[in-house]
Amino acid sequence: MTATAGGSAPGRPWWRSAVLYQIYLRSFADSNADGVGDLEGVIDRLDHLEWLGIDGIWLSPITLSPNADWGYDVADYRGVQPDLGTLETFDRLVAGADQRGIRVLLDIVPNHTSEQHPWFVDSRSSLTAPKRDWYVWSDPKADGSAPNNWVSSFGGPAWTLDGTTGQFYLHNHLSEQPDLNWWNEEVRNEFDAILRFWFDRGVAGFRIDVCNIIVKDARLRDNPPATPDDDFEAQLFGQRPVYNGNRPEVHDVLRRWRLLAESYDTPRALIGETPVKVEELATYYGDGSDELHLAFNFPFLTAPFDATTMRSVVEDTEAHLPPGAWPAWTGSNHDMSRFSSRWAEGDPAKARAALLMLLCLRGTPVLYQGDEIGLEDFPVSQADLRDPLGVRYWPAYAGRDAMRTPMPWRDGPGGGFTTADTRPWLPLGPTGRCNVEHQRSDPWSMLTLARDLIVLRRQTPELQTGRYVTVTAPEGVWAWRRGERVLVVLNMSEGESTLTGTRGHIHIATNRERDGESFDKALTLRAWEAAIAEIR
Ligand code: GLC
Repeated sequence: MTATAGGSAPGRPWWRSAVLYQIYLRSFADSNADGVGDLEGVIDRLDHLEWLGIDGIWLSPITLSPNADWGYDVADYRGVQPDLGTLETFDRLVAGADQRGIRVLLDIVPNHTSEQHPWFVDSRSSLTAPKRDWYVWSDPKADGSAPNNWVSSFGGPAWTLDGTTGQFYLHNHLSEQPDLNWWNEEVRNEFDAILRFWFDRGVAGFRIDVCNIIVKDARLRDNPPATPDDDFEAQLFGQRPVYNGNRPEVHDVLRRWRLLAESYDTPRALIGETPVKVEELATYYGDGSDELHLAFNFPFLTAPFDATTMRSVVEDTEAHLPPGAWPAWTGSNHDMSRFSSRWAEGDPAKARAALLMLLCLRGTPVLYQGDEIGLEDFPVSQADLRDPLGVRYWPAYAGRDAMRTPMPWRDGPGGGFTTADTRPWLPLGPTGRCNVEHQRSDPWSMLTLARDLIVLRRQTPELQTGRYVTVTAPEGVWAWRRGERVLVVLNMSEGESTLTGTRGHIHIATNRERDGESFDKALTLRAWEAAIAEIR
């Protein structure tokens, strides 16, 4: 089948005005009562996404996987994991989504495969195997130890000795996830073909897993020790990851993929998982038009939710991105605690302010399933852990299951995610008020707020294209203008606060009683209230 992947207004590619939505497939909707969410379940829930106003969905990996890391260990880049569906189901999903104006993006994992991928099975079979050079192999040091000091981002050495050939292979994650060798031209060509395979099926783009680390230092040099300026992870591992990732040559691959993406009539979007500082993030956009279309902003995602920090991350991002580049804003994903827990600490007022912020910044917001109903992390007991990191590090680190628990569609056993008598693959949290059905009929709910904000965004050109300009505000308040006439104000303090010298009327406030309220000379917001207003 050949879906269109949609059209876009001239000069304004679709992904710039889109609101994107991440679907963690195994936990979204289970259509066949096996406790695992699947592609058919997404088809069943397209109505929800259309009603909410979502323009594009990014699906966590759908490809064949032994699930050492739940799909992020791929054993066939063109085959669908049987418990998630088939290629035919996927084609129907693309067609069904297309009818509703929703584009489908996939997750691609180019840094590593599963150890069970036939490429790796071949590669490890002998020193002269045809695919030997598709992975990163190296001899032990003279004393038999690993080739260098690199550590895996999941902890422990990034090298595992393989008995068959006596060489070590590299893995920046689990040992079941061997890293591909992106210096090998055949690997590059193979991925071009994989991208085309999915683009030709109507896929509108890819979220590229750990795209900043796919190319490694050709000489496999030791990483230098971490310095006090380095981030938390570098401190934790005691080294700065300058040679096992973030190499300049990664940009050649991204430029190549951008050209490929733009060789289609309707340009496909490349969204990078780029866990780097803002200055470096900017480099993944290339000159603003020749690398990633969107790059996930981890300094924003991980910032504490206070006015000074959030404002400065956004200002920094605005200042560093090359002309023509377009930011992406997200508050949660399947690896990070959900924003209703992390930023809002369970306080609905803060969660509502966070949602308004995400939908009103200049750039493309990416919501994670459940963000729209204010879903919080649900801590999973040790017996129910599924994430290999939780299993390995419990109780020091409980892993990522708490942010991957099933989507509550309605109250009651199974929560509409699965049938009442099926045990979901991860436990369902409380379904009481935090469920789609309940919130859809409540004009004051987080879900209604999300939908109304998305509608407003669609109707308000300033919210789509208007410049971001910080507005001077009292301490604890973060205010900005979009274009000339739209004002966004977040009172991120514990007391009432007043922004002076402004007049207009509120379009939407997180306290919905204030929608439509006019203000003359000053706008006063109560603790953790936020509003978007038209100013005169
Ligand atoms: C990315 C994914 C994460 C996965 C890792 C290894 O960070 O988001 O879930 O474990 O890559 O593929």
